[in-house]
Amino acid sequence: MDRTTINNEKPVSSEKSRIVLKPRVGFFDSGIGGITVAKAFLAIRPDADVLYTADWTYCPYGSRPEEEVMERARKLTNDLVRQGCKIIVLACNTVSAVALKSLRTLFPEIRFVGMEPAVKPAAEQSRTGVIGVLATGPTLRGELLSKTASRYANHVRILRSEGTGFVELVESGKVHTPEAEQTVRSVLEPMLEAGCDVIVLGCTHFPFLLPVFRRIAPEVLFLDPAKAVARRIAALYDELAG
Ligand code: DGL
Repeated sequence: MDRTTINNEKPVSSEKSRIVLKPRVGFFDSGIGGITVAKAFLAIRPDADVLYTADWTYCPYGSRPEEEVMERARKLTNDLVRQGCKIIVLACNTVSAVALKSLRTLFPEIRFVGMEPAVKPAAEQSRTGVIGVLATGPTLRGELLSKTASRYANHVRILRSEGTGFVELVESGKVHTPEAEQTVRSVLEPMLEAGCDVIVLGCTHFPFLLPVFRRIAPEVLFLDPAKAVARRIAALYDELAG
């Protein structure tokens, strides 16, 4: 045996065997959206020990009161901690906006990674000086977005647009339907008319709609932060693995 998984224990080594500490990584989202992030992480750490929770009973989070989203986040974190997770990824922009700060206080022993809208690279790459953020209502209203925007994107205009109905389209497998085309078009067209040339995907469900986004707005650059977040998870993972 040359590789063994143990959690929360010091790695032991001997001449014949190398025991590798693998910190279990938990991901959660209201549904399948966070899979875009988990997949990006597994692409760079394929042997990682990963758990994924989709909170389908409460999906979508975006239309729920923030206290309820906070309560779900606390409960799901607790479940993942009980299952041995040392790193927890809020693979959901809505939960990150509503609960990341409080979760860090409630679970000081856990390393959290949250989603942050990719406003900085969007502002750097825009030529028109108008960027869009597509997200749920709580993400658009959240402190995380306003702080990132004022720190990195003061010099551009930011259009905040709610992707109403997008999560439902993804969850019901209706991405390749006329209904999806119409729903997406009604949100994107005003952004295009306002001159957006870069649009940040501020909800982990939205990358599933990329084929529709690209068909409607082929000239726009759509930014998905999943790979950047995956690199952050990998850095933490390597740190804890020792
Ligand atoms: N994937 C979640 C996010 O990133 C979806 C939110 C929802 O369930 O409304 O915000």
